[in-house]
Amino acid sequence: MSGHPNQDPVLGPVVVSSDDLAHRIDELGAEITADYADRAPLLVGVLKGAAMFMADLSRAIALPVEFDFMAVASYGSATRTSGVVRILKDLDVDLSNRDVIIVEDIVDSGLTLAYLRKNLAHRGPRSLEICALLVKDGLQRSDLDLRYVGFRIPPAFVVGYGLDVAERYRNLDAVHEYLGPEPA
Ligand code: IMP
Ligand code: MG
Repeated sequence: MSGHPNQDPVLGPVVVSSDDLAHRIDELGAEITADYADRAPLLVGVLKGAAMFMADLSRAIALPVEFDFMAVASYGSATRTSGVVRILKDLDVDLSNRDVIIVEDIVDSGLTLAYLRKNLAHRGPRSLEICALLVKDGLQRSDLDLRYVGFRIPPAFVVGYGLDVAERYRNLDAVHEYLGPEPA
């Protein structure tokens, strides 16, 4: 069955196991709980890839968090970002005086997050930080200022735990290397 880690030839080795994800996400939740004590942070999940991470991270935070989501598309091919980002779904809530944490699945070039941070910063939040589950070793801009990072991984294309190729593999419980051809 395509999409099952044991039977799909394009699914490579596990890069981050589901146990490691769970353990690290608990640590991130505890860190955020301590850093935001007595506040009610607004978690802004970046659809669709961060959906799993948002669900697990939010349950590891012992504070009255609120949720919102944005959907963005970057112009470029499926596996390369161009840096030009289009908002497909904007936030529902006003950011003024909110403690905002952007929750993102993976940072590759960092262009998507650089755009999002700048865009949200203009909306008057009291604070604005980034929590990224995965950061690829390599070419990010040094000014991205990632406050919370789950794992640094080698710069291969990965799928699972929210991350897709052509909308598939998001439901895998671990992050795997993807060995298939790059989708057009
Ligand atoms: P960046 O703008 O180059 O940092 O790209 C970030 C976005 O590209 C992420 O939010 C993902 O949606 C997507 N992306 C980057 N690398 C991967 C990957 O290895 N697997 C799946 N999606 C990825
Ligand atoms: Mg994403």
